Formats: sequence, structure tokens, C-alpha cells
Amino acid sequence: MATGIPTWQAVHRLIAGELDQAVTEARPLTPARRSRMTWAASTQGAGEIVVKVRCGDSAEKKTQWSAAHLPALGARGYPVPEILWHGMISADWHVTVQNRLSGRPLTALRGPMLEAALRLVELQAGAGIVADDRDFTGYVSNVLFDDWDDVWADAPRACAPAGPLCARLRHWLQPVWGLRLPPVDYANNDLNLSNILTDGIRITGVVDWDEFGLGSRGLDLVALALDCERFGDHVAADCLLARAAGVAGDDGLRCLLSYRAIAGLAHFSQERESYGNSLGDDECAAISAVLDRLHATDRGCSAQAASDDR
Ligand SMILES: Nc1ncnc2c1ncn2[C@@H]1O[C@H](COP(=O)(O)OP(=O)(O)O)[C@@H](O)[C@H]1O
Ligand SMILES: [Mg+2]
Repeated sequence: MATGIPTWQAVHRLIAGELDQAVTEARPLTPARRSRMTWAASTQGAGEIVVKVRCGDSAEKKTQWSAAHLPALGARGYPVPEILWHGMISADWHVTVQNRLSGRPLTALRGPMLEAALRLVELQAGAGIVADDRDFTGYVSNVLFDDWDDVWADAPRACAPAGPLCARLRHWLQPVWGLRLPPVDYANNDLNLSNILTDGIRITGVVDWDEFGLGSRGLDLVALALDCERFGDHVAADCLLARAAGVAGDDGLRCLLSYRAIAGLAHFSQERESYGNSLGDDECAAISAVLDRLHATDRGCSAQAASDDR
């Protein structure tokens, strides 16, 4: 178990030294969670910055990969932050300093903003590089089919409806058990609405690249779809899911949606204190509603029907 989250005083001392300039006006952007916290701050030379601490295996290696590869996505016209400095602050905790992008987090995705998000995700297509140990679709299949990281064990504990929902997902996955999607796209792998910034007219930034890697951009579309569904926008959710199926195929959609569902629920289990219980219930309701509609429209359900008939 990691030691407690580092204080701002300790983080400040480290980064002011590493950046070699005054770091002032720190204010939290998120509450302290068990695994992470993010602050905004000001500097003279680097302008407005965002400082994030997080614990977890491989944070340093993952951030090295992000720092090296985010510029390639930026060169495609994708509004990514620049990682200005990163390093360990203790044996368990890692610090990332980025420039602060303008805008506020999205709370909905409709009309021109939905179109803009779809265009943005399309920019992630075909990275053209070898995934090596940042093969996220490989990781997805390891979680789904090889029980990695106890995600199947933790997800049912998120809330009361999570147990039956996980059983439903496991059943739904049977016809595609073992499927491993090729890691061909750049993928944020946690593209929820709060990670997309807007000035109200256009998308000004996409942040939170902790899990950046190679994978399927379909997973990012699925993450956005579940957020839209949770906020009551079924039309946007269906549009995003249709696009995800176009990218990953109906069988691939089954894997990506199941992964996103159980990873999200497992996360709620681990961070219960900061999210409370109702978010788990809302997430289960959103996942169930999406599954109901996919079943009703037969999207990715032909194989299920065949297996049900057996
Ligand atoms: N580079 C950045 N520029 C502007 N805002 C940011 C940046 N990074 C993070 N934020 C803001 O801080 C919030 C939390 O940071 P994030 O990295 O998403 O942490 P978490 O893992 O807790 O979601 C984001 O939702 C966004 O509003
Ligand atoms: Mg985030």
C-alpha cells in the first residue's frame, strides 16, 4: 500500500527546484484522492502550470512514454499539453508538471461539439509505431480474459447493481472471449468529458494522458459514450457507440465497452471515499441502458443470439 499523498509543500519544494523558478498561487483542481491529486499554479517563465501527483506501478515509465509521444499527436493538430518536467517524489509517488491549457471541462457533448470531438478522435487513427509495452488493447484483453489487476474482482464491489451487471457483461463477452484488438491508434484510454476542455465554442484542450498509449481509438469513443449516457444524452451516446463499432467492429465494441465498464466500476470501488455510492449506481444504470439498446438493435448481438440459442 502506498504511503499518504505528498503535501503541496513537499511538491512545491521539488518542482520549484527542478524548474528553477518561483511557483506561486497554487490551488487544487481536484480533491485529494487515494491515488492522485492535481493543482494549478503560476510561474514566471513557464506561465500557468498544472501539477499532478499520482501513485501506481509504472507511473514514471508511462509518463516518459507520454512525454515522448504527445508531441506527435500535437503535430497532427491535437490540442495536447506539454509535459515540462516529471519525476518521483518518493518511492510510491510520481509528479508531472504540464503547461495549463485554456478552457473548462465539458459537461455535455452535442451538436458541433460532438462533431469536433469525433474529428479529434479521428486524428488518433493509425499511429504507425510499434506499441511494445504501451499496448493498451493487449492490456484490455489481459484484464478481460486473464484476470489482470483484479479488475473483475473489484468491479462487482462498486455498488449493489454492479455484481449482476458484471455477470451480464461476462456472459455478453463469451462469444468474443480471447479477442485481442491490434494496438494501431494513439489512445488516451481515459477520455471522459472532464478531460476535454472548451471555451464554449471549440475544444481547446485534451488533458489527463496518464494512460496514453497505443490501442484502439474506439475505447476513447466508448468512454465518451458512457459519460454522455450517464448525463442523459442517449443520442450522443448512440452516435459515439456507432462510431466505436465502425472503428473496432461489433466484436471489438463488446471488448472495449466491457473493459471500460468494469475498469470504471473497479475504480469506484477503490476510490469509494471520494466518489460516494451514487456514482456507481449511475454508472451501472448507464452501462445497463447501453447494453439494452445494443441488444435491441442487434448491434454486436448476433453472436450473442447464436450463443443463447445453443
Ligand atoms: N494541462 C492541463 N491544462 C488545463 N487543465 C488541466 C490540465 N490537466 C488537468 N487539468 C484540469 O484538472 C482536472 C484534473 O486533472 P486530471 O489529470 O484529469 O486528473 P484526474 O486523474 O483526477 O482526472 C482536469 O479535469 C482538468 O479540468
Ligand atoms: Mg481526468
